Amino acid sequence: MKKLLMTLIGTIILTSACGTTEDEVDEPQTGEDIEQNEEEIANTSDEEVLYDASSAEAVYIGRCSGCHGQDLGGRSGGPGIIGLSKEEVLSAIEEGPGIMPKNVITGEEAENVAAWVADQQ
Ligand code: HEC
Repeated sequence: MKKLLMTLIGTIILTSACGTTEDEVDEPQTGEDIEQNEEEIANTSDEEVLYDASSAEAVYIGRCSGCHGQDLGGRSGGPGIIGLSKEEVLSAIEEGPGIMPKNVITGEEAENVAAWVADQQ
């Protein structure tokens, strides 16, 4: 019984592995496909600058402004954080440089606030 089960599982793994390879190798790209891909790429980069400003601002005021100032210009607690990229802001949130606490916010909330901060001038 156990052996039968193992064989079954083995078969399923093998079959799905083959399926993946075929999908990747088959079908040369048509012009239409390539166009579609380009559109997808364009969309992805657009998404990176999109954020929910009102939610980001509310979180920033609640969790960050005490140290970085309501206008992001810095206060006694922390430096100004204007002119940084989204990646720089995200990594600061994750790493917590110096006395800044790690992961004050995480996940989508962190992404959203980072995108918003990076877009402030
Ligand atoms: C308890 C105070 C405190 C809080 C709360 C805090 N920070 Fe900081 N943050 C600091 C300090 C202090 C530094 C500078 C650390 C160092 O480099 O020594 C810093 C550094 C940073 C940097 C890097 C600045 C640079 O020039 O590289 C960014 C970006 C940043 N914080 C964003 C945030 C965001 C976004 C939040 C809210 C989610 C936040 N911080 C919450 C104190 C704080």
